[in-house]
Amino acid sequence: MGRNLQIQLNENEAYTQAFHRSNELLFQRMTNPLLFLDIIYRLTPMYSELKKSLKIIHGLMSDIVRERQNYLATNGHATTTGKIGKTFLDTLLTPTNTGKVFSFQDIREEVNTFVLAGVDTTTSAMCYVLYALAKYPQEQQKVFEEMQNIQQSSKLPANVDFNELQKYKYLDLFIKECLRFYTVVPLTGRQTTSSTRIGERVYPAGVTVWINLYGLAHDPHLFEDPDEFRSLRFAEEKSLIAFSYLPFSGGPHICIGRKYALMIMKIMTIKILEQFQLVLADPQENLILMAEMVLKSKNGINLIFKEREKSSIINY
Ligand code: HEM
Repeated sequence: MGRNLQIQLNENEAYTQAFHRSNELLFQRMTNPLLFLDIIYRLTPMYSELKKSLKIIHGLMSDIVRERQNYLATNGHATTTGKIGKTFLDTLLTPTNTGKVFSFQDIREEVNTFVLAGVDTTTSAMCYVLYALAKYPQEQQKVFEEMQNIQQSSKLPANVDFNELQKYKYLDLFIKECLRFYTVVPLTGRQTTSSTRIGERVYPAGVTVWINLYGLAHDPHLFEDPDEFRSLRFAEEKSLIAFSYLPFSGGPHICIGRKYALMIMKIMTIKILEQFQLVLADPQENLILMAEMVLKSKNGINLIFKEREKSSIINY
């Protein structure tokens, strides 16, 4: 969006808390049929808490949009130059070729969707990538060796770019397996718009159907030894059954940010592994995973970043 929120500093603590609390409250509602009817939900303290949290979130988003609107009004709309494109927010704020402009409300909704759908998911996914590197040292070794081999066999540009990333085949398999094993979005839903048959059952229009993405990723009928972390499963000949691997969901509402997310996760993994070896803080500790809007670890993810010996650091 072109605005650094400094979200990890105290200044925006209220926003961070509101963001996490609203996620918890929404997930509670999603998974409790007693809270389904608006007329009942509105009577609960959860509803007023949710309203309070959403007010904080909308407030910050509105400030960001307004601030940028004012900036563009004073400085003119940016044009795309060279490799640097416009930010997402600037694109929304720029009138289309036909002169159409989005309303303030529309823009805020879009910004909200992207922030809510893109930030916590990618952060969680990246935490599980780092955890898996530490938990499975042989996987970390393979990813690291691949990095070293690529460096030896070709001249690398100063920055890792999209084409360069295509060479990291094992890293790709590893991240695919991370996203299966730690299903970042464990549950999603769809509403039937007409009478719909799923297997033996027929659902009338207007029914919400929950889809257990975590269960799908750990179903032994779809993945051999699903509780084993094995990146190479994605390199095997056996093709995946359609719609069995859905870390980014599927169909018309498949994640719009999936390519971007994969790209930044790969870049971050490479950059971190260049400098550090990852080790579990307590090798005896097992993660206690909790389903929320995104998969959470009850006690956090406790890792040690061990600085690599200077001689093993890859110079890009
Ligand atoms: C590893 C990171 C990510 C994961 C695991 C993930 C997962 C998902 C999933 C499962 C859905 C579909 C939900 C459903 O079908 O009900 C979704 C939708 C969406 N995601 Fe992502 N996402 C990630 C990163 C991102 C990023 C970085 C962005 C934005 C830059 C983004 C933007 C969106 C949007 C806008 C939607 C809604 C699409 C629609 O309804 O048409 N996501 N994501």
